[in-house]
Amino acid sequence: MKKSCFLALCSLMLLFSCNLGPEEIILSEVELGKKLFFDSILSRDYSITCASCHKPEFAFADNVALSLGVNNQAGTRNTPSAMNQIDRNFYFWDGRAESLEEQALGPIENPKEMDLPLSIAIRRLKEHAIYRQAFYDVYGKAPSRELLAAALAAFERTLETDQSAFDKYMQETDTTQFTASAKRGLNLFNNKAKCFDCHFGVDFTGNDQFKNIGLYNGKNLNDEGRYAITGNKKDLGAFKIPGLRNIAQTAPYMHNGMHKTLREVIDYYDQPDKFIPDAINRDTLLSKPLGLTETEKKDLENFLLSLSDERFQSIP
Ligand code: HEC
Ligand code: HEC
Repeated sequence: MKKSCFLALCSLMLLFSCNLGPEEIILSEVELGKKLFFDSILSRDYSITCASCHKPEFAFADNVALSLGVNNQAGTRNTPSAMNQIDRNFYFWDGRAESLEEQALGPIENPKEMDLPLSIAIRRLKEHAIYRQAFYDVYGKAPSRELLAAALAAFERTLETDQSAFDKYMQETDTTQFTASAKRGLNLFNNKAKCFDCHFGVDFTGNDQFKNIGLYNGKNLNDEGRYAITGNKKDLGAFKIPGLRNIAQTAPYMHNGMHKTLREVIDYYDQPDKFIPDAINRDTLLSKPLGLTETEKKDLENFLLSLSDERFQSIP
């Protein structure tokens, strides 16, 4: 449904832009946001764009454990997908931002990412003829922090996907792509493997709850996650339940990028102690090995592979 609204909006925008002469190219809010997302003007040394880390071909995530920002500095957490954000209540692995607008300004100022004070970012946009005009066209105002955030968020809100083999099976528009193995995997996901207990909802984010799956031991694994925001002991080592759409495209996995493949993720959930025996505060759902057979692991993996939107299906 959210998609059809977006389509309607697009065709409206198309209609309007068709009436203009070739001289006047007026950007829509979404187009302005898209231009900004792919523009290095928002980084101190003009070397990094949002898309340097949120790469379209990897479902707007990155294919390395830790992305590099300005001066090749590595960050501290894995880059999540910037797609399917409309239904989120929290942003970042620890949920420290509560709107896409609030989120969008974070990376620009982050010294390890784009390292550009917002005051300078705004000055650059005001001094840039095309951007200055585009902000006036879209908002009737000069560039400002609020409008920069609004434009980036408007673009991100168009990055929704709901045409995976799984979706088509559920919507009964095409049931042929969802294989028998994926079907068995769905059943495992919902029952024996307990994935659905956390990963439920349209994007499998379990209402954006924060959970600890055992990737914190206070030693070599010392990212405290949600605890650093709330100071609440129960949040120690807890992270936002990530969505699973297009998960085949977004390896490596977890807040620290420690798992290289989906198979490794499944092996982890099957026997967390084999990977991290000294985890602190791990959720009780993961207290016993799942006892998955080799076939069951394959089925579960095939289910996860079925969650990629058709636009990524030709990408290995
Ligand atoms: C240097 C790499 C890098 C750059 C550049 C970057 N990001 Fe990110 N992005 C990340 C990382 C890493 C996280 C997770 C950080 C955390 O959770 O603490 C993230 C988180 C996000 C999220 C939250 C997703 C979620 O599920 O919570 C969104 C949305 C996002 N970035 C959009 C943007 C936008 C818009 C820009 C440009 C203004 C941008 N990013 C620039 C690496 C980057
Ligand atoms: C107790 C809640 C819970 C259960 C049960 C659970 N997950 Fe997760 N899942 C999470 C959280 C929280 C994370 C992020 C953890 C982190 O990075 O520290 C996560 C991460 C993932 C990721 C990596 C996502 C990414 O973008 O990096 C995948 C894939 C995944 N889970 C699949 C599954 C599967 C398959 C199952 C069932 C075998 C499952 N999960 C069971 C809460 C859960």
